[in-house]
Amino acid sequence: MTDRYAVIGNPVAHSKSPEIHSMFARQSGQDIDYARLLAPVGGFKTTVESFIAGGGRGASVTVPFKLEAFDLAHQVSQRSKDARAANYLKFDGGRIVADNTDGFGLVRDIVTNLGFGIAAKRVLLMGAGGAVQGVLVPLLEQGPAILALANRTPDKALRLAETFRHHAAAAHTVLSGQGYSDLAGRHFDLVINATSSSLSDELPPLPASVFAADALAYELMYGRGLTPFLAFAREQGVRRLADGLGMLVEQAAESFRLWRGVRPSTGPVIEALRKA
Ligand code: ATR
Repeated sequence: MTDRYAVIGNPVAHSKSPEIHSMFARQSGQDIDYARLLAPVGGFKTTVESFIAGGGRGASVTVPFKLEAFDLAHQVSQRSKDARAANYLKFDGGRIVADNTDGFGLVRDIVTNLGFGIAAKRVLLMGAGGAVQGVLVPLLEQGPAILALANRTPDKALRLAETFRHHAAAAHTVLSGQGYSDLAGRHFDLVINATSSSLSDELPPLPASVFAADALAYELMYGRGLTPFLAFAREQGVRRLADGLGMLVEQAAESFRLWRGVRPSTGPVIEALRKA
């Protein structure tokens, strides 16, 4: 019988996960069926339970259910504990196992696909919500010299920096939380937009001077073309611009590996999605 998987979200119609996992399956000769499942808000648990009852083997979890997925699991990985959220579930003989592959996906896209080593670099991470918490520890594990968290509401960035100060000490990284105005006069090699500002076509109030020579500007969102953040970076002379499509494919590849024991090749899948 074909093994069943799904992406669960609300909304979920726009999700590229079924396309991505189908390409991985074809590539690796795996017989899987991967669907989209729309769960009603407040109905995540019921949706998961009926999917398991129907033979579901695992699920990708997207907005707004990553916290609920984490809470629902019987067993959680260290990565999902750090993120306090799960984007990966495996259903294993009545047990629900959770992981988080988002931060892994981001780091792999930056380091492997874009060829940008994070170790010893100055990194600015904008935002202080779930997206930031999902990628913070994997970024710290790369050992940047500096990881500055900037947020419109500075307190939230300060609190996150406090929560993760032991991880930062282990990585020999100077981790700080602040507001945008505190960034004046500072320069960063890697600037990541993990806010939801692009959803409303807004630009976080970034000082123009933040981009160091040869900086990489990375937008976590994908499929929105040149967002206000990427356009701003380009105006400041930044030549290395990336959106989150590579991260999306890399987090999926890590999930596929965990489910199927095979690591798919991501390059052709990223290329196919870019063309589409
Ligand atoms: P997510 O799970 O996507 O991180 P979230 O938890 O709602 O979503 O967090 C959204 C983040 O984007 C927050 O850091 C928010 O800043 P505040 O904490 O000050 O609200 C940030 N954000 C949203 N719109 C923004 C904008 N126009 N400029 C700057 N930051 C913005």
